[in-house]
Amino acid sequence: MPALQAVLDALREAIEARAPGPAIEKSTVRIFRALAERAACDTAPGQRLPACQYWNEALNHARAAPCGLRVLADALHALEPALRWVTRPSENHASANFDQGHANAVLLGPNGLERRDDVWIGLSLMAPLVRYPDHSHPPEESYLLLSPGQFRQGDAPWFEPGTGGMLFNPPAIRHAMRSGPKPLLAIWCLPLRCAA
Ligand SMILES: [Fe+2]
Repeated sequence: MPALQAVLDALREAIEARAPGPAIEKSTVRIFRALAERAACDTAPGQRLPACQYWNEALNHARAAPCGLRVLADALHALEPALRWVTRPSENHASANFDQGHANAVLLGPNGLERRDDVWIGLSLMAPLVRYPDHSHPPEESYLLLSPGQFRQGDAPWFEPGTGGMLFNPPAIRHAMRSGPKPLLAIWCLPLRCAA
């Protein structure tokens, strides 16, 4: 799917341009190396959710930010008709507005546009003033922020990577995110079974 490939190319360039440090670099190099082999794409129609009303606002913020996200934002805009947005359960300190206030879309991975079990790359979009549940997972995870928003790891204080910022969640660490007055849009990348 050319629109998906354009997003992946722009994502890779954005990460490399950031020189985000050894943990993220090692993890994302591993992910993009695995993507040299590609799987077929699902051609089912896209699906939107209420939180998708914030998609354009979030993308326009990323385009206008002085941190080199315009190409990635444009590629995401072109891919949007194919995205199938879903929700995750509300649990573990999620805000009361979480169900209606968030949407996730998997680009690559189990249940992704491109179905594969070695890599997981997806999007999270949150309405203003929404808190994502605390969660953890065995694979490590790298985030690229296309918007403002705060993150928390373990019991450490909330912190703000800033638009264009990145963060790394080590394997199994408890983590969460929350939006402020602006929508939150982030891309997450996890190596599931790809070679180290
Ligand atoms: Fe996570």
